[in-house]
Amino acid sequence: MGLKVLGIETSCDETAVGVVEDGRHLRSNIIASQVELHARYGGVVPEVASRQHIRDIVPVVERAVSECGLTLDQVDVVAVTYGPGLGGSLITGLNTAKALAYALGVPLVGVNHLEGHIYAAWLSQQLPDEDPGFPLACLLASGGHTDLILMEGHGVYKLLGRTRDDAAGEAFDKAARILSLSFPGGPEIQRVSQGAAGEEHLPRAWMKGTLDFSFSGVKTALLHMAQAKGVYPSGPGDPRPAEFDHLVREMASAFQESLVDVMTVKLLEAADRYHARGLILGGGVAANTWLRREITRLSPLPVIIPPPVLCTDNGAMIAACAYYKYQSGQEEGLALDIDPGLSLG
Ligand code: KG4
Ligand code: ZN
Repeated sequence: MGLKVLGIETSCDETAVGVVEDGRHLRSNIIASQVELHARYGGVVPEVASRQHIRDIVPVVERAVSECGLTLDQVDVVAVTYGPGLGGSLITGLNTAKALAYALGVPLVGVNHLEGHIYAAWLSQQLPDEDPGFPLACLLASGGHTDLILMEGHGVYKLLGRTRDDAAGEAFDKAARILSLSFPGGPEIQRVSQGAAGEEHLPRAWMKGTLDFSFSGVKTALLHMAQAKGVYPSGPGDPRPAEFDHLVREMASAFQESLVDVMTVKLLEAADRYHARGLILGGGVAANTWLRREITRLSPLPVIIPPPVLCTDNGAMIAACAYYKYQSGQEEGLALDIDPGLSLG
């Protein structure tokens, strides 16, 4: 049997634990989602999230281990996200990981959540470092980040571009609110966009000459469009009139197209400029079907995109990333602390 890493992820609103063998073989991936808990507030409430992590973490660890036919004492390394994220959420995962590593007498490895999203790509069919090989151009798009990153080797990153305002996932979530769709907004926008005729168009912020993004303008443009068409604001508690369904579908689709278009063009430009050998997509927004399709369709290079369940937050990606860190000699002491503002590159 190979090296079994248990990965713990509690940076936001998923209590997630996965077991990965040798950095590539997914043995288990258990996710206790808090989506329904936060949906009524239209976004993640940090206080509610941290309390729920405390309730869920032990059963989720137990399930992740038992699901792959192991017992805790067969875990070789414990890995955990220590940032970026919500402080109160991160600390539950970190303290659990420390307690486990100490009790089992195994190494503890701290992982940057963003790096974890990139390493989800190592859980697919191929190992990106071997096929197509470094450097890899990565688009990391989640609720908190939209970064273009050049990965030059394991643990070696160059930040090429980032959002100057909203993250793509955040923009999807806000757009959904404008259109009276539920939280999280990304999957909802994708769902209602299906079958749209392409009747509406929203602007794109190209941020010419840079590899940066800006999504707040298109969000405002959507708001103005929704106001002009009478879709926003919706009456308190009113069910939406049926004739609005068509309008919402067209507006959601125009919004999705605008974001997907910009992210696709910028990722391909980054890959070209920095002579990447392949592309990686990661983060919750990489679960978007339209984004996955467009990048795969237009890229002259191999594109590696994890299955949707490994794009959104999960513990397996943390375990996969920790395997490579451990191989290169990284190991933390029990003094490891959370770092809510941690960045990459
Ligand atoms: O990576 P993630 O699970 O958590 C963070 O680290 O933020 O990303 C969550 C974000 C949310 O904003 C959600 O709306 C977005 O990812 N998302 C999507 C889709 N699925 C999740 N956005 C667009 N299309 C999707 N299918
Ligand atoms: Zn994430």
